[in-house]
Amino acid sequence: MDKEKQIYEGKAKKVYSTSDPDCCIVSYKDDATAFDGVKKGTIAGKGQVNNQMSNMLMQLLESEGIPTHFISEQNPRETLVRKVSIIPLEVIIRNVSAGSFAKNYGVDEGIVFDEPTIEFSYKSDELHDPLINEYHAVALKLASKEEIDTIKDLAFRINDILKDFMKKINVDLIDIKLEFGRTSDGTIILADEISPDTCRFWDSTTHEKLDKDRFRRDLGGVEDAYQEMMRRINDQQN
Ligand code: TMP
Repeated sequence: MDKEKQIYEGKAKKVYSTSDPDCCIVSYKDDATAFDGVKKGTIAGKGQVNNQMSNMLMQLLESEGIPTHFISEQNPRETLVRKVSIIPLEVIIRNVSAGSFAKNYGVDEGIVFDEPTIEFSYKSDELHDPLINEYHAVALKLASKEEIDTIKDLAFRINDILKDFMKKINVDLIDIKLEFGRTSDGTIILADEISPDTCRFWDSTTHEKLDKDRFRRDLGGVEDAYQEMMRRINDQQN
């Protein structure tokens, strides 16, 4: 299927309509931003890594019974996906303290939790993606109570599957941000992407960061980290 009109441009992706009203094509950019777009840059090859990694991981999730938007990879940067209306919630699961959790609650990074945590941010650049709870999400009519229950169940299952997979490539899944959408018949499916932009990946042995924190924190070796994650996932799949 071919791209028709651009219908959306985000910070890391563009979305195009196709001749099928239930399908879109997502095109991944090399652009990177952090801190609500205040920090801007480019990560060479990121678009291809994120597209291909996300597609591999979504297919793994599908094989475990998780519904996702993935249909087929069109080319290294572009994928045909099911069209959804995105629920404006960032669903974050954490296995280990890091990032805003460590900052907000005054703890070190690297504390392993007994059980994963879940939190929701209201997707709004203007409001700086404020943390909200599930009652707030229902009050704001972002999703129904039943939809929130479905999202929570899916998010924890996705985390379990990906954590186990990452263990096989000597990577600890520290945390992950997920987005869900509704198809035209109202079914909730996983959308957006699963990539070093949206997860924290630490090498299990050295604890080296293999994700976008290298860009956010100016740690250097950003491109190498993305390529290394892609290499390990490819090796494991082949
Ligand atoms: P945080 O610790 O900064 O809240 O990030 C938690 C996870 O969410 C981490 O894996 C990075 C990811 N994330 C996004 O995907 N988009 C964002 O805008 C932010 C702030 C974090």
